[in-house]
Amino acid sequence: MRILVTGGAGYIGGVFVRAARDAGHEVMVIDSLTTGHAESVPSGVEFVHDDLRNRAAIAPLLRRADAVLHFAALSIVGDSINDPVSYYRENLGGFISLLEAVKECGPRMLIFSSSAAVYGNGEGRPFREDDPCLPVNPYGGTKLAMEQTLAHVAPALGLTSFSLRYFNAAGAVADHGEAHSPETHLIPLALDAALGLRELTLFGTDYPTPDGSCIRDYIHVSDLAEAHLTALDALAAGDAGGALNLGTGTGRSVKEVAAVVEQVTGRALPMKVGPRRIGDPALLVAAVDGAAERLGWRASRSNLTEIIEAAWGWHQEFKERGAQS
Ligand SMILES: NC(=O)c1ccc[n+]([C@@H]2O[C@H](COP(=O)([O-])OP(=O)(O)OC[C@H]3O[C@@H](n4cnc5c(N)ncnc54)[C@H](O)[C@@H]3O)[C@@H](O)[C@H]2O)c1
Repeated sequence: MRILVTGGAGYIGGVFVRAARDAGHEVMVIDSLTTGHAESVPSGVEFVHDDLRNRAAIAPLLRRADAVLHFAALSIVGDSINDPVSYYRENLGGFISLLEAVKECGPRMLIFSSSAAVYGNGEGRPFREDDPCLPVNPYGGTKLAMEQTLAHVAPALGLTSFSLRYFNAAGAVADHGEAHSPETHLIPLALDAALGLRELTLFGTDYPTPDGSCIRDYIHVSDLAEAHLTALDALAAGDAGGALNLGTGTGRSVKEVAAVVEQVTGRALPMKVGPRRIGDPALLVAAVDGAAERLGWRASRSNLTEIIEAAWGWHQEFKERGAQS
């Protein structure tokens, strides 16, 4: 299959690009490098450095593609709270522009990177796909608006699609890992703390959870990539698509993650307690039967120790490269 990946120079898109290439697909990437890294696009993969809203750049790629995987987005919750208009313009506006180009040029299969942030605060149990979606921050709002746009537009375009709601992507593959700037995700921040580069802040220890810190569902980024390939095969086989959670079904608290980072790195983390961050639900854990039933897929590489071991290996090399350049 020929696959166009928007945001393929980013963290999750980059891991998907490698998995798709290794599975024998022909992969093309368009990325504005707003948060991505050109050097993380593997050699041999066609790469266009441009914004996906530039019709002249994306149309020739779409015409040659059988499917588009739409990873490109802004995804920092705090920034979305400070500047929601920009978030709606970039995420929803960018997506509408992509759909206009798809309408004109094809392809007819699309996979969209949605998020657990569509759910909001919930009732303290794992989220099912049919739970109400009541996002508590503008980032989650943009993702829900994009899902709804897709659900309305897809039939008119003859498009089949999955909206895959990722929980917390984590871990690394040999030559690619998590490097957001600024970084807001717990595991890379904790690894930075292990390297003595920062103090780790625990944002709120008064949540209604057993140890008071937030609980998240960490899924290995390789599991995410594999789920996308499985979803793509399902669309190609005639599946009608829909919204599915991608997580493990197991929640780990911020304090637990910090403890596993200390164990894996063999280093005590400098830590301090800070106030809660606005827009952080206490618990985000996936109910995972939907993906199992629809795709026959479950996460299989998402043991937290293995995730952190993989992330630690990659993180040290990445920081060393940064220090040398
Ligand atoms: N990381 C997570 O835990 C997580 C969880 C849920 C959902 N998601 C979603 O998954 C997707 C990928 O996340 P990530 O962590 O890899 O982020 P990332 O920032 O590493 O990657 C996003 C990529 O999109 C590119 N991009 C942004 N706007 C663009 C535009 N207009 N045109 C072209 N390229 C553009 C960026 O340069 C970057 O390379 C995002 O849609 C995000 O909302 C991520």
